[in-house]
Amino acid sequence: QSGQEEPLKNVLVTGGAGYIGSHVVYTLLKTRQYKVISIDNHHNSLPASLTRVSELALEEHKASLGPNAQLSQRDIDSTIIDAHDCDLTNHSAVREIFGKYYSSENGKGGIWGVVHIAAYKAVGESTSIPLTYYQNNVSATISLLSIMLEFNCARLVYSSSATVYGTPPEVPIPERTRREADSPYGRTKVMCEMVVEDLCESNGNAVADGTCHLVVSLVIRFHHLTTTTTGSTSTPFQAISLRYFNPAGAHPSGRIGEDPRGRPGNLLPLLAHMAVGRVKDPVLKVFGNDYPTVDGTCVRDYLHVLDLAGGHVLALQALQEGSTLNGKVFASVKAGKGKFKAYNLGKGKGMSVLQIVEAMRKATGFEYKTEVVGRRRGDVPALIADPSLARTELGFDAPHDLETMCRDLWNWQKGNPAGYV
Ligand code: WQD
Repeated sequence: QSGQEEPLKNVLVTGGAGYIGSHVVYTLLKTRQYKVISIDNHHNSLPASLTRVSELALEEHKASLGPNAQLSQRDIDSTIIDAHDCDLTNHSAVREIFGKYYSSENGKGGIWGVVHIAAYKAVGESTSIPLTYYQNNVSATISLLSIMLEFNCARLVYSSSATVYGTPPEVPIPERTRREADSPYGRTKVMCEMVVEDLCESNGNAVADGTCHLVVSLVIRFHHLTTTTTGSTSTPFQAISLRYFNPAGAHPSGRIGEDPRGRPGNLLPLLAHMAVGRVKDPVLKVFGNDYPTVDGTCVRDYLHVLDLAGGHVLALQALQEGSTLNGKVFASVKAGKGKFKAYNLGKGKGMSVLQIVEAMRKATGFEYKTEVVGRRRGDVPALIADPSLARTELGFDAPHDLETMCRDLWNWQKGNPAGYV
């Protein structure tokens, strides 16, 4: 059946207001198959991003229906985002949200799946405040997973990272590569993948000693839910981990984009801030040009943020029982068993720092000045994805080229010089 007749699936996106999150939410709205709930503590985002996402999706949907078309209730519902300004470490607040959607009709309704993007992600910062990173990235994830079990929510798309590979033994990097992160940030991603993997292997059973049952019954009484749950999901826990390489660019409308707090740590948003005049003394410090690469500067695999977002929709479709993607991705899974699968999301193409600077010079017309300085702690010479598994099993593709990424990034930045105000 086409998405039009199916009831909307409730999907919770954590970090939904962020750079990646807002583009993922936009792409979910475009499918008109999901009712999106967003949780974001706005540590590195503003609520305005989701307001714009909802407006953009509705405008584009209206345009696709033609001038005199009447919007159905479903059309409207599928572009409204239920946005919550809340921290994932606030267990009761997150549980409240799950409870709001949980209904007793034999486990129907409720939150169908979770796309877990919220995390702190600055590699350098993680070396100076590791506990904050473990608290925010790891314990918040464990808390989220336990709430998912309480409410029979057994589908997860997890935002992971190429940093799980540390300095990879080979480039391009296949998913079978050992995970050996060399920063607290990267280690939080490895740990979360392992937690999810073990949960899938355990088939999603809850805490053995029954504390979860106690908690569940308290929750149910509190929420006046008529049904009792067993404290473990009735369906096996299935999870797909998406290992992001370097997302870049923005939606071509220029309405949404990357809006980091303070001076950007990442190369592309920093170059955009320089070109729009947000950086005093705009000299780009190039962190080392003595790497074994094409021009001595670090090489990364940049992909358009909308291609990355598309990978999340494919992952959700692969988690949908009975879908063709589900059959392909989880073909080897015995019936009733949980399963964890990881995929690289990248183009499989590397670009050096200097090549990025040149591409941004062309896109912005800004004459960048560069100064070579020492290497940055935690940097590795080259991170390039082998994206073949995502291509064959998920049907993933990242067709946008670097010129498009830079053009879309600049279109966003010049139209929003101070970001979301
Ligand atoms: C790219 C290259 C720098 C700034 C990011 C995220 C990380 C992960 C992967 C999510 C590097 C060089 C940068 C500057 C420079 N994403 N550079 N001067 O390091 O690959 O990591 O993507 O999981 O969380 O941080 O991206 O944009 O920081 O750096 O020379 O002022 O540009 O050395 O080689 P990175 P980046």
